[in-house]
Amino acid sequence: RPGAEQWVPEDRDLDSIRAAAADCRGCELWADATQVVVSAGPPDATVMLVGEKPGDQEDREGEPFVGPAGRLLDEALEAAGIDRDRVYVTNAVKHFRFQERGNRRLHKKPAIAHIKACWPWLQAEMETVQPPVVVAMGATAGRAVLGRDVRIGEERGHVLSEDPAVLVTAHPSSVIRLRGRDGYDEAFQALVADLRAAAGQ
Ligand code: URA
Ligand code: SF4
Repeated sequence: RPGAEQWVPEDRDLDSIRAAAADCRGCELWADATQVVVSAGPPDATVMLVGEKPGDQEDREGEPFVGPAGRLLDEALEAAGIDRDRVYVTNAVKHFRFQERGNRRLHKKPAIAHIKACWPWLQAEMETVQPPVVVAMGATAGRAVLGRDVRIGEERGHVLSEDPAVLVTAHPSSVIRLRGRDGYDEAFQALVADLRAAAGQ
């Protein structure tokens, strides 16, 4: 039976979840990744930020959002007046998916099958942390948290579901792609505004 469910421990505390995820074989992505990347942040966080999947640097370090997307997220959180140490940061999919190009590892979007396979982990995290607010960053996270297709441009910044309050916003990587181009400032400020709106819930 595919999916992470059989690896998720009964006792729902973050340490057991993080330890057990290392053994997950719920889809094929574990095989080529360096290690599992679960989450960072305190169990009593009031905001949970959900990204797509670990990137190259996250895969090497075992921590979410420590690469370029993480630096942009740090800037946006700071601009929104949110202390990153008080936020729970995780991903819809816990293993890096990539394509080899020479000696580079280019990230590849998780498929819907990976999002579904990995959902039991995110569900366990949500049950454990019970954050009043969940922010899905990008379409992959939106699909995981809301269980449906999300159009970020149209749905961002609003509470789409209650208890927890779920909001969607752009993925930090989509803002990075605009760097040095028209629209960067606007995209960055839109991310900041959505984070601020989320923290105010
Ligand atoms: N992008 C993500 O979606 N998550 C990370 O942890 C890093 C980059
Ligand atoms: Fe398990 Fe998720 Fe990793 Fe797939 S991506 S092996 S479901 S932890």
